[in-house]
Amino acid sequence: MKGKDKLPRLPSLIQENHNQMNENNLRILVLGSGGREHTLAKICSESPLVREVLVAPGNGGIQKEFRTLDLSVEDNSKIVEIAKSENIDLVVVGPEVPLCNGVVDDLAQNGILAYGPDAQCARLEGSKAFTKDFLARHNIPTAGYGNFTEIGPAIEYLYQCTLPVVVKASGLAAGKGVIICSSHEEAEKEIKEMLSGNSFGASGSEVVIEEFLEGEEASLHLICSGEDYVTLPMSQDHKKVGEGDTGLNTGGMGAYAPTSLVTPSMLNEYEESIVRPTLAGLKSEGMNFRGTLYIGLMLTQDGPKVLEFNVRFGDPETQVILPLVGQDLVPILIASAKGAELPEKLIMKDEFAMVVVLASAGYPGSYPKGQKIEIPQNLPPSSSLIHAGTDLSDDGSILSSGGRVLGAVGVGSTLEDAKGAAYRLCESVDFPSKFYRKDIGHREFSRGN
Ligand code: AMP
Ligand code: GLY
Repeated sequence: MKGKDKLPRLPSLIQENHNQMNENNLRILVLGSGGREHTLAKICSESPLVREVLVAPGNGGIQKEFRTLDLSVEDNSKIVEIAKSENIDLVVVGPEVPLCNGVVDDLAQNGILAYGPDAQCARLEGSKAFTKDFLARHNIPTAGYGNFTEIGPAIEYLYQCTLPVVVKASGLAAGKGVIICSSHEEAEKEIKEMLSGNSFGASGSEVVIEEFLEGEEASLHLICSGEDYVTLPMSQDHKKVGEGDTGLNTGGMGAYAPTSLVTPSMLNEYEESIVRPTLAGLKSEGMNFRGTLYIGLMLTQDGPKVLEFNVRFGDPETQVILPLVGQDLVPILIASAKGAELPEKLIMKDEFAMVVVLASAGYPGSYPKGQKIEIPQNLPPSSSLIHAGTDLSDDGSILSSGGRVLGAVGVGSTLEDAKGAAYRLCESVDFPSKFYRKDIGHREFSRGN
């Protein structure tokens, strides 16, 4: 860790309004309970500006390291009440649901600073139909599409589409609302199920029918303050449960960063064709985006196309991109939350990171819970263990409580080193239903890196 004297001071604009935000004095509340939130809490707690990090509701591993508060991330009034009673200076919102529920708006109305977009901007994740129309209005490259709320016109449009065709529930569906269909009949069935409310409830009351894109996927994370932004290292997630990218879609089985798939000059081009038009387009429509914009890109033969926007950090991508940041992130999160100026660039470490998700067998279907997890006293060098679906039992042991249980993170001067550290940690942690993909980063290694 850097010495305090080398760290940037808070921008003066923030100090003006927040006299209490002195060195060592900040109290941060992280909202959420997964690996992303464990990582955010760790990163915030390393800042010399911070006195205490609280997490609500957190998980078993988070509870061992931080004070946790028992509340639902969907209960805005309780969140406001706790942020007030705990004298919180900054709320960092992890997941998309509270953002779409307007938690940042409610906190702001009560004079509490929060990192993340307001509800209006969170529609970029909360409504795929809104996003597709937004992209079209601003000529930002994306797959051809149609939005529908009625079965008749949707089916008529569908039969004009080439195969495969992609059918999406427009609303939030925890990563499950995208179906790639190889026949019109299959797509027709999915569309009818969605629009009749059977498959995704209200989230399926509008559907997006989209052209299928081919290429490699990459995730670009930005921290934004209106039209100002800083980029984080490009990462690649592994969404399929099985090795060789086979089987069902999951929330993500592993990730690494940075990826050589996108060179610095390609990133400059993406900023020109995608990032700036997006932030400028939002501004021109009266939306001042603050917080994380995660752009899911498909790198097609015709150039990069936007697959999706998320309005929060990715999970497990956060576990690999934040450890690569070589400066205190807290002043950056505060500047973004306040809509203040951001630096032109973040300082990055010249390192690589990989996270391998330790899941419970059966995930993403049903899986056992409550299994005791054996964690060694001393972790392998250059590794850290991030908790996702864990509970803390009364006797202090850690139990599994979710499908994605832990994230084994390795950092190194090469991706090979990062991988070695992550997989050594995977082997040293044990629980009866433990399983993990052995090939995280395979696309990068097959590119010869
Ligand atoms: P989304 O939530 O829209 O990013 O979709 C989830 C996943 O579905 C993406 O990460 C892609 O793997 C896949 N996907 C979504 N849209 C398309 C598309 N138009 N063509 C091909 N694959 C897609
Ligand atoms: N790892 C994918 C996501 O966070 O949406």
